[in-house]
Amino acid sequence: MAARPVRIGVVGGGLMGRELAALCGRWLHLSGHPAAPEVVAVADPNPAARDWFRGVPSVTTFADDWRQLVDDDSIDVLYLAVPHNLHEDLYIAAAQAGRDFLGEKPFGIDLAAATRIVAAVDASSSFVRVSSEMPFFPGALRASAYVASGALGDILDVRSQFAHSSDIDRGKQINWKRRAETCGEIGVMGDLGMHVAHVPLRLGFTPSTVYAMLDDVVQTRPGPTGEPVACDTWDNALLACRTSDSARGSSRPFSMLWETRRIAPGNMNSWSFEALGMDGGVRFNTRNPTVLERFARRDGEQVWETVQPGNVSAWPMISGGIFEFGFADALLQMWASYLAEREGELGDRFATATPHEALEAHRVFDAALRSNVSGSAESLG
Ligand SMILES: NC(=O)c1ccc[n+]([C@@H]2O[C@H](COP(=O)([O-])OP(=O)(O)OC[C@H]3O[C@@H](n4cnc5c(N)ncnc54)[C@H](O)[C@@H]3O)[C@@H](O)[C@H]2O)c1
Repeated sequence: MAARPVRIGVVGGGLMGRELAALCGRWLHLSGHPAAPEVVAVADPNPAARDWFRGVPSVTTFADDWRQLVDDDSIDVLYLAVPHNLHEDLYIAAAQAGRDFLGEKPFGIDLAAATRIVAAVDASSSFVRVSSEMPFFPGALRASAYVASGALGDILDVRSQFAHSSDIDRGKQINWKRRAETCGEIGVMGDLGMHVAHVPLRLGFTPSTVYAMLDDVVQTRPGPTGEPVACDTWDNALLACRTSDSARGSSRPFSMLWETRRIAPGNMNSWSFEALGMDGGVRFNTRNPTVLERFARRDGEQVWETVQPGNVSAWPMISGGIFEFGFADALLQMWASYLAEREGELGDRFATATPHEALEAHRVFDAALRSNVSGSAESLG
């Protein structure tokens, strides 16, 4: 059966908007996918951002106002990739117009915005998912599936981490991601939190309480003319949560760490997930993307073994199964998952994060902010 054309409009032609245009250009990497996406429109008030898309042959609409794309019935799917303070108006308008969209995380600047967005999505006919691509690394998928299988037995603890060091240079200029007004009071949790929340929430590890340690290390950054400007977002956040493996029938609480760091010396862009239980364990880190490690007790020995999952993610690819997988492949696979699910053809493959998972993540980040003030563990509101 021929793949169904999907006309995509990009709102926000920055870093992530360009990634989507690039991955549509290499869609042929996927085998037998039911959709054939192409980016046909971009909306961005910045002319330079729009101009980049003039190099994408399929783009014919260049708008300075996102309403033009939300109102355009010839567009099938919107990709919403704008600063966090703009999420609420845009996402709600898209849902109310009945538009299908993939919305960038954190899906609203704070819990209140996310609650209103998700209510609008729930009241709409739109097919909506939330961007979170790191779990599409083959090792991450295998690690997640291993935990879901129950192979770990009684779970002892779970750690989910995203660590980079893009803010280690104090001379780096201020931008919207480093200001609470535009990034959100949740700071680094808005930037990286959905990435660490996606797999644990999918496995059913919803936190009951959160104890947070939040650090604002770099408090000013140079503005456009070099003058110091307040950099009032959390750089690093360590959340110590209690949860349980209720999805596999256990109500016994165990500890779970969610760690998001913009300043993690030695890390470029490392996403990792680890879970340990009485019968087994598993860990995966994108620093070492070709292997995942599994723990078992065998013949009285404690054994960590390495497994090479190959190039096998959510959707089959023409690339050889022995070839290495990277960040751009994870994005391609997330979009393959979103568009296949939209066509009703994802089957039991790993699905893109849902609006309700984003809302759950926001409830955790909100509890983290309260915990940072009270100095105690806080329940989810
Ligand atoms: N999934 C990921 O790995 C990942 C990585 C980075 C950022 N993000 C998310 O993507 C979103 C965008 O981040 P980014 O890094 O691409 O930012 P960016 O600053 O590179 O790009 C944002 C773009 O939005 C444009 N914009 C501003 N106001 C607008 C408006 N009113 N209408 C339309 N466009 C407008 C800006 O001009 C800019 O081109 C954020 O939600 C962020 O959290 C996700």
